Parts: sequence; C-alpha cells; structure tokens
Amino acid sequence: MTDVPAVTADNQSLTIRDNRTGSEYDVPIVDGTIKAADLGKIRTDDETPGLAVYDPGFVNTASCRSSVTYIDGDKGILEYRGYPIEQLAEKSNFLEVAYLLIHGALPTKAEYDAWEHEITYHTFVHENVKSFMHGFRYDAHPMGMLMASVGALSTFYPDARNIDDPANRHMQIVRMIAKMPTLGAWSFRHAQGKPFVYPDNDLGYTANFLSMLFKMSEKKFEADERLVKALDVLFILHADHEQNASTNAVRSVGSTQVDPYSAVSAGVGALFGPLHGGANEAVLRMLRRIGSKENIPAFIDGVKDGNERLMGFGHRVYKNYDPRAKIIKKSAEDVFEVTGTNPLLEIALELEKIALEDEYFVKRKLYPNVDFYSGLIYEAFQFPPEMFTVLFAIGRTPGWLAQWLELVQDKEQKIARPKQIYTGERKLDFVASSERWA
Ligand SMILES: CC(C)(COP(=O)(O)OP(=O)(O)OC[C@H]1O[C@@H](n2cnc3c(N)ncnc32)[C@H](O)[C@@H]1OP(=O)(O)O)[C@@H](O)C(=O)NCCC(=O)NCCS
Repeated sequence: MTDVPAVTADNQSLTIRDNRTGSEYDVPIVDGTIKAADLGKIRTDDETPGLAVYDPGFVNTASCRSSVTYIDGDKGILEYRGYPIEQLAEKSNFLEVAYLLIHGALPTKAEYDAWEHEITYHTFVHENVKSFMHGFRYDAHPMGMLMASVGALSTFYPDARNIDDPANRHMQIVRMIAKMPTLGAWSFRHAQGKPFVYPDNDLGYTANFLSMLFKMSEKKFEADERLVKALDVLFILHADHEQNASTNAVRSVGSTQVDPYSAVSAGVGALFGPLHGGANEAVLRMLRRIGSKENIPAFIDGVKDGNERLMGFGHRVYKNYDPRAKIIKKSAEDVFEVTGTNPLLEIALELEKIALEDEYFVKRKLYPNVDFYSGLIYEAFQFPPEMFTVLFAIGRTPGWLAQWLELVQDKEQKIARPKQIYTGERKLDFVASSERWA
C-alpha cells in the first residue's frame, strides 16, 4: 500500500474506464459516495440506457442524507441526534427522546412541558375508531389492527394531506405519537374480548399505555414504577435505527407526498414481517426448546454444525455488542425484580456466556442483538408474542416521523422509483382467448 496517495480535498473523484467503448469518466466522490445518476451518463451509444447499479435490498446504496441517527456497527455505537443511546436510556425518557428526534435538539423546560401537554391532550381517538376496531375478527392480529387503524386516521384528519405546512405537519406528528399507544392497547384488548380503556391523562405516556392495556374494574391503574421505567427504556431503544426496512417503507411511501398516517401505516406493515420485528419471539422459542442449562453445549454444537441458528445473535450492521442489548439486559434484571425471574433467563445468560467465549462466534463477530433479551421482558409483562411487534411500532413512531419530516423538507428527494433489469419476453403477438382456446 506504499504507492497509495493520501486522500486530499483535490483527489475526491473516481476515474472509470468503460472497456466497451474505451471512454474514461471522472465521477466526483462526495461524502464517500458517487451519484448513481453520474453512472447513468456512461453509455455505449445514444440508444442504450446508461450504466446503472444493481443492488437488491439496498445493501450498499445510500438513499438519503440524514441527521437523525448515527450507527457505527463495528464499534457498537448508536446515537440519536448525536447523543449516545446509553445516556438517553439512563437519563432521559421516551417523550423527551421523541422531542429530540423530531426537533433535532433537546427541549428547554418550557418546550418539554408544552410537548408533554400536547401529546397527552391528543391521546384520545374519535369514537368511530373504536367502532371500526370492534369490527375486526375476534382473533385479529394486533399488528394488522394497528396498521389499519393508523392508516384510517388519515380519513379523520383529511387536512393531514397538507404536508407543506409546518404547523399542520407538527399537528399530525403530535397526534400520531399520542394515539399509537391507544390504538396498540385497543388492538390487544380486542383479542382478549375485554372492553377498551380510555386514556388516563393524569398518567405519563408509558404509564397511561400500561393502564389502557391492563386496567379492569379498579378506579385507577397504577403500574409499578420499575415496570413503567423498563418499558419506557425499551421504547427509547427502539425509537430509531436509521434506514432500516420499515423506515425505508415510510420514506418510500412518503416520497409520493401522501399524508403521514398512510406513510406510517406502511412502516407498520414492514415491521410486521418476521425478518424485521419478529426475532425476539424466535429467541423465546429457542430458549424453550433448549429447556435447561445442561442442554446448551449440545445446542451450541448444533449451531456450529450449521443445523441450528443462535437467535438473538448477529446483526447486519453491528459486528460488536449491540449497544441496545447491554441496556436491555439491565432492564430485564429490574423487571424480574418485580415479576419474579423467568426461568428462561438463566438459560439465556449461560448461552450468552458460552457463545461470547466460543471461537465460532468470536471469529464471526456474533454478539447479542436487541432481540436477545427483549422477548423475555415482554413475556414478564405477560404480553403474548403477537404484541411484541406492536410495542416495537409504538417505540419506532417518533423515528419514522422524524425521518418523514426530514424527507418532506429535503429538496434532493424525489418519488422513490427504482430501476429494474428486465428479464421477460418482448414483442410477443397477442392471440385472443377465443382463438387460443378453440
Ligand atoms: C441478523 C442476521 C440475519 C444477520 O445476517 P448477515 O449480516 O447476513 O450475516 P451472515 O449471515 O453473513 O453471517 C456471517 C456468518 O455468521 C454466521 N451466523 C450469523 N448469525 C448467526 C447466528 N445467529 N447463529 C449462528 N451463526 C450465525 C453465518 O452462518 C455466517 O457464517 P459463515 O461465514 O460460516 O457462512 C443473522 O445474524 C441472524 O440470522 N441472526 C439471528 C436472527 C436474529 O437475531 N435477528 C434479529 C436481528 S436484530
């Protein structure tokens, strides 16, 4: 590597030689990227399309500039608006983090009070929302109900289409952050055949959510503070994760300039998929299958032989301990102090200990991810597995909205419309069915 010149402001370009034509092109490098449109100028003749990038799953394509969330997967760093996740989880609360994500800076006392008041004030939904939620089948999946009901809010607030007006955008953002717990809790109660509980505006954001989930005949439902804190921390940890699949869905749908309820509903749909929001449930199934600590070595052997997968380990981005997993592990201890230990925790702790010392996992940089412990906590709250992703969606809502807000104000953004490599037939002669079937 001795001949490599130093990277300077003057050599920020890429020289491409097209061997088909012998032509050379200089393409500027900006922020470590080249513009795909610049590649489009590389063509063999005027008739054929320019060079394009083939990137299924967008594994190496930046779709936007963003100042919301920073991740360094190799070092295990996650920051919202520049603040480390560890500090936010320890010293902030979900509403303040939501403010930070949406506004880009921490609130003053007056700003926080106004924000909290606005969010609390908007927790109620129109009574007709309640009627149509009752219309779902008795066993409707709560994520399906959440996706449909948040999308349906666009019909209650038709002015939400006016996305160019900052005050209007703010109103919808407040409404959505405020109402997601109400819709999520009601989706849960529906499956249980229990009456819907209205918001209790004397309670904080997360305490009110727990009240809407679990209140029965008591005058007031007041959850143990340690449980409220643990769930609040889980919301913080899930609040944003830059351009993940559901955020990309929100941005993609939002790029059509549709209202934000429809865009967030698309995000909920993406999160519903097992490759995105469903891994914590798989961790619980795995721990149950292992059954006891004695069976761990045999299970680890199965993983190394390629017959098993250690769920809750490994991550596309994090090649180090997922910073959220460390915080969740601590929350799990707090929750179990209240609810009593889940016997699966012992297996999880032992499994983690063995895996972190094992050459197979060390070499492949496989560390616990956010899902390794979150399912155990949710189970301690007595949430059925279908609810795990609903909790994720409530936590992720401020992130989706912060990204949507950034999108609609970004002059470089366009309607999301990828290219394709066409592989089908061409210029076939159509023969009418009356002739083909004769
Ligand atoms: C998250 C995940 C899909 C990331 O996948 P990825 O970035 O494509 O990583 P790869 O599949 O390229 O993995 C690299 C190597 O580690 C192995 N590996 C990755 N995750 C593993 C796991 N959880 N258990 C065992 N081996 C694993 C792969 O088999 C591969 O081994 P090889 O090099 O011998 O072929 C993957 O780690 C996984 O399936 N984890 C379990 C599911 C999970 O917890 N998902 C939640 C993510 S938040």
